[in-house]
Amino acid sequence: MQIKSLAEYEETYKFSVDHPEEFWAGIAENFLWKKKWDKVLSWNFTEPKIKWFEGAKLNITENCLDRHLEKNGDKPAIIWESNDPEKPSVTLTYKILHEQVCRFANVLKKNGVKKGDRICIYMPMVPELAIAVLACARIGAVHSVIFGGFSAKSIADRINDSACKLVITADGSFRGNKQIQLKEVIDDALIGCPTVEKVIVLTHTRTPVSMLKGRDLWYEDEIKLVDTVCPAEEMDAEDMLFILYTSGSTGKPKGVVHTVGGYMVYAGYTFSNAFNYQPGEVFFCTADIGWITGHSYIVYGPLSQGATTLIFEGIPTYPTPSRFWEIVEKHKVNILYTAPTAIRSLMSFGTEPLNGIDMSSLRVLGSVGEPINEEAWHWFDEEVGHKKCPIVDTWWQTETGGLMISPIAFVTPLKPACATLPLPGVQPLLVDEQGKEIEGNGVNGNLCIKFPWPGMLRTTYGDHERCKQTYFSTYPELYFTGDGCMRDENGYYKITGRVDDVINVSGHRIGTAEVENAINMHAGVVESAVVGFPHEVKGQGIYAFVIYPKIHDEPELTKKDILQTVTRVIGAIAKPDKILFVSGLPKTRSGKIMRRILRKIAEGETTSLGDTSTLLDPAVVDEIIAAAQQL
Ligand code: PRX
Repeated sequence: MQIKSLAEYEETYKFSVDHPEEFWAGIAENFLWKKKWDKVLSWNFTEPKIKWFEGAKLNITENCLDRHLEKNGDKPAIIWESNDPEKPSVTLTYKILHEQVCRFANVLKKNGVKKGDRICIYMPMVPELAIAVLACARIGAVHSVIFGGFSAKSIADRINDSACKLVITADGSFRGNKQIQLKEVIDDALIGCPTVEKVIVLTHTRTPVSMLKGRDLWYEDEIKLVDTVCPAEEMDAEDMLFILYTSGSTGKPKGVVHTVGGYMVYAGYTFSNAFNYQPGEVFFCTADIGWITGHSYIVYGPLSQGATTLIFEGIPTYPTPSRFWEIVEKHKVNILYTAPTAIRSLMSFGTEPLNGIDMSSLRVLGSVGEPINEEAWHWFDEEVGHKKCPIVDTWWQTETGGLMISPIAFVTPLKPACATLPLPGVQPLLVDEQGKEIEGNGVNGNLCIKFPWPGMLRTTYGDHERCKQTYFSTYPELYFTGDGCMRDENGYYKITGRVDDVINVSGHRIGTAEVENAINMHAGVVESAVVGFPHEVKGQGIYAFVIYPKIHDEPELTKKDILQTVTRVIGAIAKPDKILFVSGLPKTRSGKIMRRILRKIAEGETTSLGDTSTLLDPAVVDEIIAAAQQL
């Protein structure tokens, strides 16, 4: 399935557009099916309704585990590196991982979990997280993994939205020199979650936890009560594999739904191609399994290809900014896939942390999650890759399931800070505000996709209408990504950032409406408006304009209170970087906040604010500018 040359890419790409069904059927032949499909694809983007490999039967864990056992059973599947460099790393061979997944799948069954049940996973970055994910997939339960940075309230909302029956968590997690009390957060969340019957708790930090009789069980006790034989549930290709919540322009996060067959084919194919993975290599994706990048490129993509995937519990700068590089040296990492925010943060320490570390094992580098700036791209290329490692700048989304626009390592000629060309099977187009296609090169527009690909979302959990409204209604018959994009003179795509009300903070997607709702819950706040602003390390920061007429003590303390409320309502990842108290917001006569103006002010622009004549009270803008300059 691996493309070897640019000519082959061009030919493959053309074939994938002219004959998409034959193309994807050919790729799907590389996977293990209990029964092949009756029909490759049926679709429309109106309802929308998308079905890939209809009638096929499979289990994704047989593709990720069982099929590798005979030849590669003793090969490392997972290498785990602790937050603490002094702690020994752990290697799980495919044989051991298979056994542990089957064992834990039996634990789930013993606790009443059945095919189709939703399971919430809130765990540290430990092998048991991957085991829990795969154990769900083994028995056809639907996992909903929640990133460790979300608050009890966010977790409760997600658990209730999909009526999860069971939660898998740990006592706590380590992140640098911090500890997060995961079980305590879950206990708070579960006060408002009537559907949850059982909680399975892994011991990791061994911090004291409360264990409720009849509800809470220790992971370590449970696995002793079951054996390691667990037949894989036969799944329909279009059965649900997982739900992953993600933020958008409006309302609460929505549960993006991915199904078994198409997702597997897409994650496996894109992994194998873009990174040019070779047998025996070590692949290190630094994302958290709580995000889509971890789902597709720590767990399912690599394991479906029999790769060795490295799971790192910690952060790039702990205990020192050499940590990533030391891991590369220690485990002879061949492919390093990380985020621009991590690169920028490490870049700020200069090259000293790289000195004396042997990183000659590196062959391919990757970037994901946000636009990479040229300075960071060159630093990554020169200081980390020594100009020998292609950088694949991979553009994709939670909704797309896998990489969409990305170089193929050693195949696509690179351009710094550019996602380059669509992968085979991906048909992007740019449209103007009216939805008219912008043709030709050297143009800018809103990025849409006009044809389905196997890894695409099928619905948003429990609310198909929302899926339709969010992705398929802005421009009829097209999937709208929410991103702006430039197509350069050579037809290369460069993503310029979100064009909707979503902020990308350190590669994390945060809806401005969500943050505003959280701030507005704070006693004393009358109204707020949140926008993104350029941030040197995080890419974008969060800037909140807040109307709070009666501040009863120090404004700085009040700001801290507001941050506390946001942390409680969403989680620490959504805390504004800047809060500005204002007496009014720039609104049109119809009462709409003109975010365009606030964005400019947040960027430090004070003069060319564009047309302000439609504002209800133009004077408010001068007041905000004056206050912003004081901040
Ligand atoms: O704005 C794009 C940005 O991240 C968004 C998707 O976020 P999420 O669903 O959390 O998935 C992140 C990991 C796939 C996109 O709409 N984005 C992602 N990758 C890139 C990017 N922006 C520019 N360049 C990229 N390589």
